[in-house]
Order: sequence, then structure tokens, then C-alpha cells
Amino acid sequence: MKTYRVVQWGTGNVGNESLRSILDLPHLELAGVRVYSDEKAGTDAGSIAGRGAVGVTATNRTEDVLALDADCVAYMPRNTDLDDVCRILASGKNLVATPFLFYGHGLPDADRARVEAACAEGSSSVCGMGIHPGLLGMVLPLVLSGAVRRIETLTIQERANWDFYDSPRITFDNMRFGKPPEEATLDANPFARFNGDLFQQQIHMLGAALHAGLDEVTQEQTLLAAEEGFDVAAGRIERGTVRGQRYRWRGVARGETKIEIDALWTLGPDYPSDWPRPKEGWTITIEGEPSLRTHFISLASFARRDATIEEHVHAADIVTAMQAIHVIPDLCEAAPGIRSPIDLPAPRSALGFGGAG
Ligand SMILES: NC(=O)c1ccc[n+]([C@@H]2O[C@H](COP(=O)([O-])OP(=O)(O)OC[C@H]3O[C@@H](n4cnc5c(N)ncnc54)[C@H](OP(=O)(O)O)[C@@H]3O)[C@@H](O)[C@H]2O)c1
Repeated sequence: MKTYRVVQWGTGNVGNESLRSILDLPHLELAGVRVYSDEKAGTDAGSIAGRGAVGVTATNRTEDVLALDADCVAYMPRNTDLDDVCRILASGKNLVATPFLFYGHGLPDADRARVEAACAEGSSSVCGMGIHPGLLGMVLPLVLSGAVRRIETLTIQERANWDFYDSPRITFDNMRFGKPPEEATLDANPFARFNGDLFQQQIHMLGAALHAGLDEVTQEQTLLAAEEGFDVAAGRIERGTVRGQRYRWRGVARGETKIEIDALWTLGPDYPSDWPRPKEGWTITIEGEPSLRTHFISLASFARRDATIEEHVHAADIVTAMQAIHVIPDLCEAAPGIRSPIDLPAPRSALGFGGAG
């Protein structure tokens, strides 16, 4: 099998899982590591991954990465930078991203033109991947659609309890949980608009792939205030501040909702009684001929071993990393340009059971 040289860009929860897979998988070779923190810069990539030395030194300079001979960059930073992405693509490296670019064709015209020009210059391709956006809002619905003659509606529900997510920056600063509701509205919170756009990109992709003829994608936000104060991993939620956020993004054709993503995000033990059940996981429902429903849960283990709640929560990071890692060979072989699950095969495990044949 052909070997692909990969740069790991960002070594947080997701990036570190990706890095470990690059080190482990025989068809991938670590070409470099881009970090942000001063402590990690200059260290061996193996120590960042919790392994022995591997002879690749992490850098915090973009120029070092651009100069590398590599086939692909696994781009997984907290904040995105389209300038960096375009420079990487123009330097001849393909790029798979977990934070954005899920349906690059839906970018604003000027941004899309920049990305397309960079791909043309570097003869490279780019896509976004992850658990959601990614697997549950793009890959799996397309796979399921293959079992259906005709689709009337397609709905994806995501429940997430943020209690164990130990990131005050994302939970409080970005998402504005624990803030007064007026600070968390779509008008007041630019991150909510950025984040909402990522989920809407999936609707645009599904609409294009499944011939939905969408006229528009709408969004609706419901905020839930805490009745009592309580503590979570990221800090404290005071009474009266935001403890729940529900977003409904709808792809509409001729006045009818065809595709809907319903994000149901809560903090605290009480799941709102009037929100759709069950309380955990993702549900994909196709109404059509015939109608299908699948419910998805990722855990560290279902039955084979005990795991802490942190390990269970971390399972979603591994899913995100593996979706990105597994798309790399097809992305590298794809025609240059913006790619998505429309024109890439559904990723499958490279290692599988790990045996021969
Ligand atoms: N599509 C999906 O389903 C999905 C799922 C989960 C996460 N994500 C996205 O994937 C990305 C990584 O998630 P994560 O959970 O690994 O995040 P994380 O654990 O918070 O990791 C943070 C990463 O951001 C880097 N960083 C630090 N300061 C930065 C700055 N100023 N600008 C840009 N990056 C900076 C860190 O650098 P170091 O390497 O130096 O530590 C680290 O690599 C995020 O953008 C997240 O939104 C997507």
C-alpha cells in the first residue's frame, strides 16, 4: 500500500488521537507536527503522544510546515485560520480539517474562490471531517439514503451533555453557557453564528447530494436558564444563567422542511421534559419509502471493560480523529479542489481487527 506523509497540526484532545494513529498506521508516516504552546514547541512528537521518541520535532512556526515534504496536513487547531489553510494547500499539501470546511462549496464566494485558487496552485484538495459535523450529519445519512427509494424528510438529532467537558474557554467564552441569556443569543454571540454555519453546511451538502432543491436554510435558537446553581467540569453555572441551548437548522424547499438538524445541548442533571427523547446520542431519521431510523452512541466500551466517564466522553474525540485520518488516502488521490462526502468514499478502518488479509 502507498505511504502518505502527514503533518499533524494541533495536538489537543482530537489532534493527539490523530497523531497516535499517524504513528501507528503502516500506510502513514509522520512528516511534522505544528503546535501552539511554547512547552510543546521543540519537543519530540513521541513525547506529546505519550510515546518514546520518534525523531520528529514539533514546531510552532507555520513556515516550517510549509517547507516540509508532505502529502497531507491533519488540521485540528482550536481556532481556524483560512490564510494558513490556503498557504498549506498552495504549498502542495492536501488538508483534512476537523474544525471547518465541511462543505467548502457553501463558503461565501470570496472565501471559496481563495480556497479553489490555492488548491489549483498546489494541485491539492481539502475537506472537513469529524463526528458531527462529519460522520453523523454527512457520511452516515448518505450511506443510509442508499437503502431508501425516495426521501420525504431527513432529521438528525444531536444530544450533548456538556457537564464533563473540561474547557472553560469553549463552554463559557465561546458557547456562553453560564452567562445571562441575553449574552448568548445569536445576535450577541458571534461564535454561535460561526458554529451554526458549520452545521448548516451539512444541510447544504445533503441537499445537494440528495436533490432536495433547497431554497433556504433557516436557524432557530432556544435558550434555557438554570433554576438552581450547580457545578460542572468547566466551572459553575449560576441560577438564571444559560444551562441549555437548542438549535434547529432547517433546509426548506417550497415552504416545506426537507432536512433538519436539531442540536439539544444541556448542562446539569435535568434534561428538559419537552425535548425529544432519548436523552443521549444521535438519532438519524429518514421518512420516506421506506422509513429508517438509527441511533448512534460512542463510548469507550459497551461491555468488555470498565471505563471512567472521562474515557467515555473522550470516545467522541477518537471518532473525530479517526474519520479524519481514514479519509487521508482518498483525499490525497482525489482530483484537486474542494471535496466532501459527495465525492469521497465513506471512510473505513485501516487497521480493522489488526490481523492479516
Ligand atoms: N467535527 C467534529 O465533529 C469535531 C469534534 C471535536 C472537535 N472538533 C474541532 O477540532 C478542533 C480540535 O478540537 P480539540 O477537542 O482537540 O480541542 P482542544 O483539545 O481544545 O485542543 C486545542 C488545540 O488548539 C491549539 N491551540 C492553542 N492555542 C491556539 C490558538 N491561539 N489558535 C489555534 N489553535 C490553538 C492547541 O495547540 P497545542 O497543540 O499546542 O496544544 C491544541 O492543538 C477544534 O477546532 C474543535 O472545534 C470538531
